[in-house]
Amino acid sequence: MRRKLVAGNWKMNGSKAALAELDAIAAAATAARGIDVAVAVPFTLIHPATARVPGLSIGAEDVHEADSGAHTGCVSAAMVAEAGARFTIVGHSERRADQGETSHDAWAKATAAHRRGLQVILCCGETEAERDAGRAERVVQAQIEKSVPDDADGSWFTLAYEPRWAIGTGRTPTAEEIGSIHAIARAKLRHMIGERANGVRILYGGSVVGDNAAAILGTDDVDGALVGGASLTAAKFVPIIEAAA
Ligand code: G3P
Repeated sequence: MRRKLVAGNWKMNGSKAALAELDAIAAAATAARGIDVAVAVPFTLIHPATARVPGLSIGAEDVHEADSGAHTGCVSAAMVAEAGARFTIVGHSERRADQGETSHDAWAKATAAHRRGLQVILCCGETEAERDAGRAERVVQAQIEKSVPDDADGSWFTLAYEPRWAIGTGRTPTAEEIGSIHAIARAKLRHMIGERANGVRILYGGSVVGDNAAAILGTDDVDGALVGGASLTAAKFVPIIEAAA
C-alpha cells in the first residue's frame, strides 16, 4: 500500500554538466511505474534540473524555517518551491553535525516546508558511539518525538533512518537491524500520530548501492532508500531504482 520511494541526495556535489546524469535517471524513473523517484540537489541546480527533466521530482537538501528575512546565506521553502522543488530533505545528520541543527530545528523546517506545499523527507539516525552504547533505539525515538510534526501524514511526510556511521562508509547495518529500527520508528510514529503512521514511508539511508539495494529494500518496513554517493551517476543510481521497482 505504501509506494516505494528511491531518493537521491547529491549533497554538495554536482554542476550544470552533471545534470546530464538526470536524463537516464528520469528515464528509469518513468520505466519504474510502481515506485517514486526523486533527487535532491544543491540550491543552485534546482531550477536547471527541473528545466532539464520536468517529469522527475527535484528537491532541496535543506530549507530555512522562516519564509523570508534577515538570514544571510539561507534559503526558504518558498524560494525553493518557486525554483521548482517539489520536496526538501530536513534534519540530515551532516547538517546536525556541521551546522549544529537540532531535532527541533528539523521540526520547524518540516513545518515551514509543508506550509509552502513541499513534500518533506526528515532524517534521523544514531552515531556509532550511541550505537555501541546500546542507545540507537532510544536516540531514534527521541529524534522522532522532537522532530515529527503533529499533522504529519503520508501525503507529504517521509521519515528516513540514516545511521550516521553508515553514511559514506560502505558499512551498513544488517537487514535485521534495519528492520528492527524501522519497526521501532513506526511504533513511535503510531504513538504520536495514530493510524496516519501506516501511510508514512520510512526510508533507509547509508551506503546503499546497487549490490545491496535489493536486500535492503526487501526488508520489512523499509519503504525505500535515501541514497548519497550512488545517486550522483545514472550508472550507479539506476540499478537501485530497478531493484526497488
Ligand atoms: O542522505 C543520503 C546519505 O546520507 C547517504 O549517503 O553516500 O552513504 O549513500 P551515502
